[in-house]
Amino acid sequence: MSNKQAFRLEAKGVTKSYGAVHALEDVNFELKPGEVMALLGENGAGKSTIVKVISGLIVPDQGSITIDGEPVSLTSVRASQNAGIAVVQQEFSTVGPMTVAENLVLGQSGAPAWWNSKKLAESAKVILNRVGLEDIDPERLVETLSVAEMQLLEIARVLAKDAKIVIFDEPTAALSDAEIVRVLEAVKRLAKEGRSVIYVTHRLGEVFEIADRVTIFRNGRSQEPQDVKNLTVDKVVEMMIGRELGHLYPPRSQKIGETILETQGLRIPGLVGDVNLTLRRGEIVGLTGQLGSGTSEIMKAIAGTADVISGKVILEGEELDLHGRGRGIVMGIAYCSPDRKKDGIFGGISIRRNLSSPWLRRISRLGFVSGSQEQSEATRSAQNFAIDVKRLNTLVGNLSGGNQQKVAVGKWLGIRPRVLLVEEPTRGVDVGARAEIYAQIRRLCDAGVGVIVSSSDTNEILGLSDTISTYYRGQHSATKPAAEWTEPALVREVMHKGSK
Ligand SMILES: Nc1ncnc2c1ncn2[C@@H]1O[C@H](COP(=O)(O)OP(=O)(O)OP(=O)(O)O)[C@@H](O)[C@H]1O
Ligand SMILES: [Mg+2]
Repeated sequence: MSNKQAFRLEAKGVTKSYGAVHALEDVNFELKPGEVMALLGENGAGKSTIVKVISGLIVPDQGSITIDGEPVSLTSVRASQNAGIAVVQQEFSTVGPMTVAENLVLGQSGAPAWWNSKKLAESAKVILNRVGLEDIDPERLVETLSVAEMQLLEIARVLAKDAKIVIFDEPTAALSDAEIVRVLEAVKRLAKEGRSVIYVTHRLGEVFEIADRVTIFRNGRSQEPQDVKNLTVDKVVEMMIGRELGHLYPPRSQKIGETILETQGLRIPGLVGDVNLTLRRGEIVGLTGQLGSGTSEIMKAIAGTADVISGKVILEGEELDLHGRGRGIVMGIAYCSPDRKKDGIFGGISIRRNLSSPWLRRISRLGFVSGSQEQSEATRSAQNFAIDVKRLNTLVGNLSGGNQQKVAVGKWLGIRPRVLLVEEPTRGVDVGARAEIYAQIRRLCDAGVGVIVSSSDTNEILGLSDTISTYYRGQHSATKPAAEWTEPALVREVMHKGSK
């Protein structure tokens, strides 16, 4: 190799602070032509911040960037795009009230005119096929898509651009195995075409499938890039969190009790049919399936927030009103939604208030909140979830993606429900904090709570659950104790490619 190889992109001495928070400190980052560079690190390590610097969304306090050896000034999103950079951001940028086709095609060079909806739909179809979204009607409004579909749409949008550097900030956090395969294939294809890819993820297995090198961030600082072929998952974890992890999943339940919650013939027309599910005290039931499997609708139906259902939901022997919106908390059912932006947490208020919000009724008297009690409850939840207790006053909207998720889950675990329903409990959460969340869920179970977890992450479902049920296109397909599943069997069942 020549002594000085030209990097496709090189960032040097990049620094960015928000008040006392040093999001990036003297970060150096390099990217070769045609390579996939994984960018790893704990929640809040600075990954999205460097991505935002490179994509022109924020201007750093200090530092310089070159592309193909030439200094560039990425002071706006437009400047970054003109430099050949395309980004799938951690938070979506698709526009809700537009159609899928408009979102995908408009604004691209050579796009048909906006009024030519037939042409738009045709162009959109081509792009959708590339990410396996051929089932989606290009005329559909984006706001009607699921979180996973929106994520795939976002990826499709970026693939449609002719960029020389493509950045993915946790593209697969909301996706299940079948969709992840497509995303990883798309990434490999980009690299084969000579494009460079920066790939941020907390799903470490992906790194070994697609990345050539890894750069690890810790507390806003970058470490030297490493060749993936010299690494193992354990080594990566140790470099990320500074210690060995030990066990990711807590031991399974020793004392599963009587039935606490049951559904009989639950139906949501067009979405799920005939769900008969049993949850026992102290048990974690894991629900899993790919896109459109209906697990999310089942959770909502039990929580009382699904639109039309028939059948029965029985909690400790008592039949619940199916359409009891908001009945959840009152009845002791806590529901943690996968869409934290819509109904998980409130970005404009503090961590303290977010964590204590389900408690407010309990800790307020005549409309006044007891400040000291709020503080002590919030502190306790924060400690349980690896949330920085010194930052309780911080607005949740200013937290990193994974730290927002910890607040969303911590908030619901704090109220000690009878039944906890949680979708995608660790979406975007780093491996160390994930272990904390699993331990907390298990602790609730040991205290007699029943928990239903739905997750697109097969490994998480296998590791955390006592019992696993799979769903396919709204229909139950199999239920077995977790110990009787193997990973390949579960993946096959989820994809509905069982031994037929
Ligand atoms: N607008 C802001 N105001 C204050 N602090 C901020 C702001 N944006 C980011 N930060 C802080 O900067 C740090 C780095 O955040 P960043 O989003 O880059 O983390 P990350 O590595 O992407 O984490 P995650 O894995 O959770 O997505 C965090 O401590 C975060 O709270
Ligand atoms: Mg991030």
